[in-house]
Amino acid sequence: MVRFQRKFEEAEIAYNFEDVILLPRLSKVEPREIDLKTKFSSNIPINIPLVSSPMDTVTEAEMAIALARRGGIGVIHRNCSTDEELEIVKAVKRSESFIIKEVITTNKEAKVGEAAEIMKKYKISGLPVVENNKLVGIITGRDVRFADPSIKVGEAMTKDVVVAEPNITPEEAIELMKKHKVEKLPVIDRERRLVGLITYKDVALRGEYKEATRDKEGRLRVAAAISPFDIDRAKLLSKYADALVIDVAHFHNEDVIEATKKIVKEVEVDVVIGNLGTREGVLDSISKIDRVAGLRVGMGSGSACITTEVTRAGAPTLFAVSQAADALEEIGVRIPIIADGGIRNPGDVALAIAFGASCAMLGYVFASCKESPSPMTIINGRYFKLHRGMGSQSARQKRMALDRYATFSKEIPEGTEIWVPYRGEVASVIGEFVSGIKAAMGYAGASNIVELQENGKVAKVISRKDKLIATQNVEQIK
Ligand code: XMP
Repeated sequence: MVRFQRKFEEAEIAYNFEDVILLPRLSKVEPREIDLKTKFSSNIPINIPLVSSPMDTVTEAEMAIALARRGGIGVIHRNCSTDEELEIVKAVKRSESFIIKEVITTNKEAKVGEAAEIMKKYKISGLPVVENNKLVGIITGRDVRFADPSIKVGEAMTKDVVVAEPNITPEEAIELMKKHKVEKLPVIDRERRLVGLITYKDVALRGEYKEATRDKEGRLRVAAAISPFDIDRAKLLSKYADALVIDVAHFHNEDVIEATKKIVKEVEVDVVIGNLGTREGVLDSISKIDRVAGLRVGMGSGSACITTEVTRAGAPTLFAVSQAADALEEIGVRIPIIADGGIRNPGDVALAIAFGASCAMLGYVFASCKESPSPMTIINGRYFKLHRGMGSQSARQKRMALDRYATFSKEIPEGTEIWVPYRGEVASVIGEFVSGIKAAMGYAGASNIVELQENGKVAKVISRKDKLIATQNVEQIK
């Protein structure tokens, strides 16, 4: 009797965002002087603490590009085939890279109509024409627009191509393109083999987004979600993505940990694990896996989650963050913690950081933006976008991410579908979040993320139910 009653008495408090408030402290900085630089994973610095969820209503190329341009990072969802996910990752890496390495090409024998289809599919405006890997021409949107689609590319292409050498600088490339009034510069080696492509748009845009999250070669960074049980997908994606995110609802599971161990051995990029929710889960995972580069934490708090309603199991995001932070402190390990699920406002991000997170992952908020891949609808004259849990019935119908959930619960939905009010371009939503997080940090007296993690103070908020009891008590006393 006592033993079981103790379970309740000794239970920890599984608090979340609505249960605490960030306390104001002496501030020495103005919000505009506040630095939001942080980390997504051990080797991936980001300039703002915002990450997008790997959900099929949230993150594909358009979202990942927009977010990386503004200093965050997107995690591509895995509810698609390996080839589709790879294409999305490549599209992000291709955008804005100075020299595109993965060039999409055509050949002289192809039909102009086929070249036009390729351009449409990949949303690009020109294709180098190659023969035995050597550059023989270029065909652009302008060429295909006015040509008969049934003629051969060889007849419609420009043969006299302006080219660049591999060691060209961005400034030289811009000058060359301006001089010849061209928007694309194929890059060739001494044998005229095509080794890359420079586009005017990409070079010009590089100067525009100074805060962008870029890799060493200047390309936008992107992460990709994977199943721990699909080592082939992991190996393939790791050649292009900057990080892999093991994407399961419950990471603290022996089979998942064993499978992740193998993946970590096979890939060189950062591997983020999750979702985790308890101190034990974090300690167990870290002790068994060689190279963990980040922890995605929070279980059952997502806007489209019904895991906790269905199973009565979960770890509210803020509680999960503090559990993970304490576990890391206990063993003296410093790896970024990503707070995931239920984040609606900038203050939620600030609170997560005050409890030890390095950044926050947002699904609902980003699903509501123009760049999310979800459909838009009008309800009573107002615009809405669809947001669905990856464990929802409709997401499961695609059957590509079923193993996110435990085998025995495959047929029970753990997610739902919701319509979220449309908020416009993600750039303005990010702008609001950045201002809001800085304002919160201003109140908390923190001039950077580490200061907020170390010194942020919080107070408990009495929940409405408790408030009611408290008021009744006051009335009784009266
Ligand atoms: P928000 O609240 O930002 O949360 O939309 C996004 C996070 O929710 C998780 N997720 C799910 N959780 N059932 C769940 O219990 C689901 O079907 C589901 N789909 C996504 C995921 O961690 C995501 O980042």
